[in-house]
Amino acid sequence: MAVYIINGGNRLEGELRVEGSKNAVLPILAASIINGKNSVIHNVPYLKDVNTLINVLESIGCKCSFEGDTVIVNSTGDLDINIPEKPVREMRSSIILMGAMLGRFKKVKISFPGGCEIGLRPINLHLSGLRLLGAKIVESNGYILCECDKLYGNDIYLDYPSVGATENIMLAAVMAEGVTTIKNAAREPEIVDLQNFLNKMGAKIVGAGTDTIRIQGVKGFHDVEHTVIPDRIVAGTYAVAAAITGGRVIIRDIIPEHIKPVISKLRESGCTIYRYDKDISIIGKRRPNAVNIIKTMPYPGFPTDMQAQMMALMCISRGTTMFIETIFESRFKHAEELIKMGANIRIEGRSAIVKGVNKLKGAHVFSRDLRGGAALVLAGLAAEGTTIVDNVDLHIERGYENLDLKLKDLGADITKEK
Ligand code: EPZ
Repeated sequence: MAVYIINGGNRLEGELRVEGSKNAVLPILAASIINGKNSVIHNVPYLKDVNTLINVLESIGCKCSFEGDTVIVNSTGDLDINIPEKPVREMRSSIILMGAMLGRFKKVKISFPGGCEIGLRPINLHLSGLRLLGAKIVESNGYILCECDKLYGNDIYLDYPSVGATENIMLAAVMAEGVTTIKNAAREPEIVDLQNFLNKMGAKIVGAGTDTIRIQGVKGFHDVEHTVIPDRIVAGTYAVAAAITGGRVIIRDIIPEHIKPVISKLRESGCTIYRYDKDISIIGKRRPNAVNIIKTMPYPGFPTDMQAQMMALMCISRGTTMFIETIFESRFKHAEELIKMGANIRIEGRSAIVKGVNKLKGAHVFSRDLRGGAALVLAGLAAEGTTIVDNVDLHIERGYENLDLKLKDLGADITKEK
């Protein structure tokens, strides 16, 4: 497994540009199946998860070409309705293909995505939503077979504002006959980006970003060109990198509005942050203050995908912070690795109590999931001595484009070894 070797203690200084959003581009790539024509997608991040989904699109018959950070998908003709099993196992968010395939071809067979390091990740809300649109769904020996003669618009209430379920239902409903209303929909910015992409290809959707999304089914779609929004979690991760090293960094080409809760907590920890139209500049404090409570919530609350990174920062804070993880049932795996570095953390179910220590010590630690791995890198930047973060190719490179190189450009002493 590849590792990052980090010698801690350097203050980060300089500026960087944040790549396109992983969690926006994945549903947008799925949506490129719908028009049966060309989709030109700009600002696509170079990530393992993106490559995995593009490989799936090609394996079912799409033609994909690349020009820098632009991907062109041609989905003309009959695509194979059998989604290959291996990539779905490798990347559970391939389940996002279900709605688009069902909408266009009225049939799709895909293996159950199963759980991952952070939780069981059920898809009951995806399936109940598609059933309400008219899909007949059979789940047997690890596969899901969805079929329908036609999809019909319906009123769907989500028991929980699930991001993936909201996206899968949108992707199917754009081709249904009649109007679909999704109530208690997820409000994440990635859903707004998906609505904008779909409307550019001819869909008629309003309401993304609120808890009620209305989709008027249409028959024909045309070519589309779109630029993916910046990755708000990557932006937040670099902001914490500046904070944890007491550095001063400018983060460019982001949408500051999308990381408001992170900016607010970093200011509460003592950082000075200036917000501009598409950039933020952040000056870290020599030693951060504790922020009492961080409770993860659906957007626009504090994002669960930033919980681990903020925990790394609070490990060296003055005072005690309680983390409450309300979204996923086992998203504290990074805590035991941080404890190897000298952190003082106590886990009580979905709560973690972090008592700040003066300094962390370098250690050989293992990334167990994508954001937990990023948190260990951040801790290594501030720790005394050398930290080896293991399994970076398994997790971190799924969601961060050249994290080591971008941190090195900001002055971090970090090298990657295969
Ligand atoms: C998306 O996952 C993101 N992934 C996650 O980012 C993110 O943490 C999550 O939304 C929450 O913001 C992508 O967009 C590819 P959910 P998703 O459906 O869609 C329960 C990262 O690090 N649930 O909103 O899977 C579920 O168990 C990743 O980039 C059901 O019970 O999230 C969880 O507790 C990690 N039934 C909660 O809802 C369902 O049918 C949130 O899940 C679906 C979800």
